[in-house]
Amino acid sequence: MSMHDLHKNNKLPKHVKIVEVGPRDGLQNEPLNIPASLKVELIERLVACGLSYIEATSFVSPKKIPQLADSHEVIQQLKRKSGVTYAALVPNLHGLENAIATDIKEIGFFTTVSETFCQKNINCSIAESLQRLKDMLPLANANNINIRAYISCVLGCPYEGKIDHQHTAKLAKQLIDLGCYEVSLGDTIGVGTPGEVQDLLQKTMLNVPLPQLAVHFHDTYGQALANIFAALQMGISTVDSSVAGLGGCPYAKGASGNVATEDVVYMLNGLGIETGVDLTKLSEVGSWISAKLGHGTRSKAGKALSGE
Ligand code: HMG
Ligand code: MG
Repeated sequence: MSMHDLHKNNKLPKHVKIVEVGPRDGLQNEPLNIPASLKVELIERLVACGLSYIEATSFVSPKKIPQLADSHEVIQQLKRKSGVTYAALVPNLHGLENAIATDIKEIGFFTTVSETFCQKNINCSIAESLQRLKDMLPLANANNINIRAYISCVLGCPYEGKIDHQHTAKLAKQLIDLGCYEVSLGDTIGVGTPGEVQDLLQKTMLNVPLPQLAVHFHDTYGQALANIFAALQMGISTVDSSVAGLGGCPYAKGASGNVATEDVVYMLNGLGIETGVDLTKLSEVGSWISAKLGHGTRSKAGKALSGE
């Protein structure tokens, strides 16, 4: 079978947009005291690999995530390259004001489909989190801020277990109706399997057009690449991942790293799907940042390519 037939039969996209979340999802879960200059170097090196969307940091309570308390400094120090989106994770108006002060133009708003996780992570109910988003809209619109949204715990919650996919589908539509341009479906604790991914997408696609959906997999049970392939077969073409497989949420017990960007790019290269990313360079960045953080890379492709 030719690659063309494979694409036709499986409805695989020709191009995948990678949302690199390592500097945010990755570094929020590492020990303290990573200097801002190292974070800046990481972001700039990721851009040099061809990644065009970087979630660079978050504007959240420094008491909750002290690892990213230097977000202002990081964004200020960055030499931004045109054509690249530098985003920040923001949960409320206070965070949006701080992000705007650094001239951020793109934010990731985050909520979840689990009431218990919502309380633990952002100290409010799901409905209150949507109200926080509504409170942000006038300022966001006045400053031409693009809002991407995350829904966490879509394939399982550390506190509530199984999650009803209809609830996620409904919440995704609410987020789009409020003006978010895309919803990233997060398997925060990495428990989902491909059949569940396809069921979730089938239900969510009835509410939100596919081009406005993305997937965000953590790899706790080693299912992330299979889940991404299942999502690609459904027509998804935006995938979140993290260099060297860094990542995790301190408020989601048992969450391990995100799927590694190197592994995703290796798989996509094999499928003939374009990403614009230089895999050799990226695996060097993955090994470099892992060494700086005091552990080896968690990317299998990265390990193989760098001979680690
Ligand atoms: P709260 O305690 O309800 O907020 O926190 P509050 O409005 O009552 O304020 C309490 C204090 O926080 C006040 O300061 C505020 O000024 C300050 P104090 O008077 O005590 O000195 N504050 C802020 N400071 C900085 N930035 C802000 C901000 N807002 C209030 N934006 C809040 C609510 C949401 C702020 C808090 O619970 C929080 O920061 N949570 C963040 C948790 C987090 O970042 N988790 C990790 C990211 S989510 C994730 O990783 C999942 C994802 O990857 C997808 C997936 O994997 O599924 C996205
Ligand atoms: Mg995450």
